[in-house]
Amino acid sequence: MKSIAFASLLALLPLAIAQSQEWGQCGGIGWTGSTTCVSGTSCVESNAYYSQCLPGASTGNGGSSQPAGGSPTSSAGAPGSTSTIAGLNAVAQAAGKKYFGSATDNPELTDTAYVAILSDNTQFGQLTPGNSMKWYATEPEQGTFDFTGGQQIVSLAQQNKQLMRGHNCVWYNELPSWLTSGTFNATELTSIVSTHCGTIVGHWKDSWDIINEPFNDDGTWRSDVFYNTLGSDFVSVALNAASAADPSTKLYMNDYNIENPGVKATAMQNLVKSLKSAGVKIDGIGFESHFIVGEIPADIQQNMEAFVALGVEVSITELDIRMTLPSTDALLEQQKQDYQTVISACMAVEGCAGMTIWDYTDKYSWVPSTFSGQGAACPWDENLVKKPAYDGIAAALQG
Ligand code: G3I
Repeated sequence: MKSIAFASLLALLPLAIAQSQEWGQCGGIGWTGSTTCVSGTSCVESNAYYSQCLPGASTGNGGSSQPAGGSPTSSAGAPGSTSTIAGLNAVAQAAGKKYFGSATDNPELTDTAYVAILSDNTQFGQLTPGNSMKWYATEPEQGTFDFTGGQQIVSLAQQNKQLMRGHNCVWYNELPSWLTSGTFNATELTSIVSTHCGTIVGHWKDSWDIINEPFNDDGTWRSDVFYNTLGSDFVSVALNAASAADPSTKLYMNDYNIENPGVKATAMQNLVKSLKSAGVKIDGIGFESHFIVGEIPADIQQNMEAFVALGVEVSITELDIRMTLPSTDALLEQQKQDYQTVISACMAVEGCAGMTIWDYTDKYSWVPSTFSGQGAACPWDENLVKKPAYDGIAAALQG
């Protein structure tokens, strides 16, 4: 009797092991594990590479074995996307914009499910490397350039027929120690800035954030290794070197808290005017747009128009909209409206070239590690499932 009971138990065991747990993977290209889910959950397709056991809609036999083709519910059981548009970039381009894009970073590129969505050029027509083109990564020793990390993302973009945005050439942050701890005079530092910007723009062409975050929030110049030695001349040195390296690359200055009219936006506008009157090439201004749910600046469109009137284009370069966690249905709904508001501003301004989100998924957002207790800032959630925010963007792109 005992051995029969044990055999019965053994026979049941594979079934128990075969079923994926709640939130576990249950399908996708390359997946060799179970395609059934434990009771109370069902297998929902996130993308071709990833299906997941989500709470709800069980088939009564202990689980579902059919990956569904999309879901109106996010993987947190919260409201999700119901949009059926072709893809964010496809719709943006059809409406006359150059691209809808996403930032990415090298460590994430081992995540095949993540890369599958990132590589879909109906969703994303442009990539920005979040870190691997920064100074510490590209010139770790003076005069020794390393293009490895940046090239990995450029190659992916080329393979996917996506545009590339270089980020960034001159920034106060993420500098190598040889630069920050050196004691360079103005002539030496001019040559260092010129060599760095000329080399990286000559290597990767397209659009570039040449000058990143030059101002304090009160509109004064940020004190850093560049300004402290060269004054504001570092800006024209960098732009001139970039322009000489590749005249066709779009040269940008990029900053946050310039999205609304105010002293910082005015400082940036004054800089554009002085560069133009000095004959220095400046093509565009990046509105970073790291926002907070429910606190979107009121006059983004008006402010974009003020920049465009100076003879530059604008772009939304680093959009995300964070919230205090945990996310709720109400916060996700507000976030949807907020994404719609921001994207609508760009759509309403002819001189707004395109829009980039600062990574598309909460799984790889910079927000939680920087703002304690905050997150859920991106249009896809941590399980690569579209949130209501996606529908807000889609609605804005469709006009
Ligand atoms: O590479 C090291 C890794 O070796 C180490 O183990 C790990 C431990 O913390 O740190 C890794 O470096 C981190 C790097 O990102 C790469 O992941 C740094 O600590 C971290 O500070 C850095 O954060 C980046 C931040 O810029 C500073 O460079 C974020 O990922 C990136 O999203 C963020 O992006 C900026 C834009 O460049 C400019 N505008 C604001 C935006 C958000 O802060």
